[in-house]
Amino acid sequence: MESLPGGMTESGAAKIRARLGQISGGRILDVATGEGDFIDTLMITLKDYDCFVGIDISRKDLKSATKRFKDQSVKLAEMNAESLEFDDASFDTVSMAYSLHHLERTDEVLAEMLRVLKPGGNLIIQEEFFDGNHTEAQKTNLLQHAWDAQIDSLLGETHKTTFTKHRIEEIIGNLQLEPVEIFESAYPLGCLLCEKRSECIEDPKNQGRIDGMIKEIDDNLERLEKIADAEARVRLRESGEELKERNRKFGNTPPSALFAIGRKTFKGSV
Ligand SMILES: C[S@@+](CC[C@H](N)C(=O)[O-])C[C@H]1O[C@@H](n2cnc3c(N)ncnc32)[C@H](O)[C@@H]1O
Repeated sequence: MESLPGGMTESGAAKIRARLGQISGGRILDVATGEGDFIDTLMITLKDYDCFVGIDISRKDLKSATKRFKDQSVKLAEMNAESLEFDDASFDTVSMAYSLHHLERTDEVLAEMLRVLKPGGNLIIQEEFFDGNHTEAQKTNLLQHAWDAQIDSLLGETHKTTFTKHRIEEIIGNLQLEPVEIFESAYPLGCLLCEKRSECIEDPKNQGRIDGMIKEIDDNLERLEKIADAEARVRLRESGEELKERNRKFGNTPPSALFAIGRKTFKGSV
């Protein structure tokens, strides 16, 4: 493995990578794939795989994923994960990253993910968590995420604030998986593979990154105008300005992540 910056070596991400390197993925379904970041991560980290299918409810995100994987064996489809259009037990691996807190009906989606997974196949879930030993730059990221989630919710989109570790473990613990391996990492697995980590984890106050995060706040401040509740608009505008200040002062890096790998039992679905 290539040399890693100090924080990453001890972050747990290296352990997750080593574990994924032992898994043959076979036919893989990535649920709520968005622009396909997790497909990219699994392509690099799994021991091997046959092909990927990525589904998402958002046509816009899938457009980017289509461009990204145009030369690779990845099929993408617009689909609601609450009713997957695949046969029972038709995938060797089913994955989902950073999406649990975006789901309106979490139980339905997880039941569908298990239905299409073969008995003995792996369910792989990555989700950021709130209650870690976060740096100030990571706290900025979590606060900004909570602010984004409030705006999305007021505009009618399902977007919950970041779950605690306990809540994620509880959700995964309710599924018929045996055994379940849980890993914790100070940073997302993707950061281990990201060419830009020197401008982020290693340099949280990197000007280009801060400018990017402030641009995201400005874009969301524009969206605020569509919120009907005037009091909420004022409150969120103020906290948006505070967040910009916090970005300048402390920087902004991705928070800790929980990673679960669980094997579907031969007994049934959920
Ligand atoms: C934060 S993004 C995560 C994207 C990607 N997995 C990643 O790691 O970057 C959450 C995604 O969940 C998708 N999503 C939310 N509810 C969904 C549903 N019911 N079915 C399919 N996708 C859904 C959204 O469209 C969005 O692309």
